[in-house]
Amino acid sequence: MTEKKTILRALAGETQDVPPIWMMRQAGRYLPEYRATRAQAGDFLSLCYNPELAAEVTLQPIRRYGFDAAILFADILLIPQALGADLWFVTGEGPRLSTITSQAEVDALKPTDAIHDRLSPIYETVKILARELPKETTLIGFAGAPWTVATYMIAGRGTPDQGPAHTFKNEDRAAFSALMERITDATIEYLAAQIEAGAEVVKIFDSWAGSLNGADFQDFALAPTAKIIAALKARHPNVPIIAFPREAGDAYQGFAKATGADCVALDNSVAPDWAAQHVQVDGCVQGNLASAHMVTGGQKLIDETGAICRAFAGGPHIFNLGHGITPDADPENVQLMIDTVRSGNWRS
Ligand code: CP3
Repeated sequence: MTEKKTILRALAGETQDVPPIWMMRQAGRYLPEYRATRAQAGDFLSLCYNPELAAEVTLQPIRRYGFDAAILFADILLIPQALGADLWFVTGEGPRLSTITSQAEVDALKPTDAIHDRLSPIYETVKILARELPKETTLIGFAGAPWTVATYMIAGRGTPDQGPAHTFKNEDRAAFSALMERITDATIEYLAAQIEAGAEVVKIFDSWAGSLNGADFQDFALAPTAKIIAALKARHPNVPIIAFPREAGDAYQGFAKATGADCVALDNSVAPDWAAQHVQVDGCVQGNLASAHMVTGGQKLIDETGAICRAFAGGPHIFNLGHGITPDADPENVQLMIDTVRSGNWRS
């Protein structure tokens, strides 16, 4: 048996008796201690840029639940801000940004090197966490994938169908591609800096990958992720990378091989038995309990958690939700999920 942390063992391709577990948005509003620290910081962005408090909220779910991994507390929209976009959050509604709809606006973004001016507090948070996390806990850094980040930069907000980004992509392909390239380059430098500060794994969140089809999926979800991974692997060959092309459907198949990702995170629209056969054959998978179970709990939570553990028991697996936990979740249901996974009672 190696000394290696459970998450790193799964990412190295090891099948374990009990899968390691962490949870997307594990530091968040469903936890009273998070709400208290956020109030102390003043608002969400001030919390992101305050290394002591951002490290504190990252540690809260580790203390409460003993997850196998901690994810850096930050946001995928800090990259647009570091590139010069205005960014603010409207309470109860979500993010707002200045919009990008022309080549001139792409050209006006700050150069890649300049991002660290704004992002250095994030690297400081990573350094604190690398010091303070329990020895067995893996530290995960992250960034948004270029397409998902671009959808917010173009529209200036979250949209149900990413309509403005599709319009820009279809009407001014050159300017759209230039924007994608600027985000891709910045993301490489941002993730490399997180690794150099102490992140042991990085994850690339492509929350809106599912709205791309065919050649567009290849060009704007798969290719940029592959480019980021190749650049990071050239500098840090031993740092595992998790890719999350959310709602990619059939395109999950082959995604790890095509991008060089060490693990593919699955959303809960994917059937675990299908994914075991078609995705896990290529290596580690992460997922994929519907986050609604964190609201409803009960026997259904236990049954679904067990079914996911059984489906993926034959290969490397990291247990997680299929998307972030929501503010209305009950902290006791999170404990029930963890207890169910770790009890091993789901084995048939
Ligand atoms: O997972 C974690 O615990 C790490 C921290 C993290 C946050 N956002 C904190 C956050 C991570 C990894 C993200 C990723 C993120 N941010 C994504 C990709 C994953 C996904 O959820 O699809 C996206 C699209 C964003 C952009 C974003 N940030 C939106 C659309 C919102 C508003 C929606 C909401 O839940 O309120 C945020 C805010 C945000 N990011 C919160 C947290 C804890 C809530 C802010 C608050 O405390 O009010």
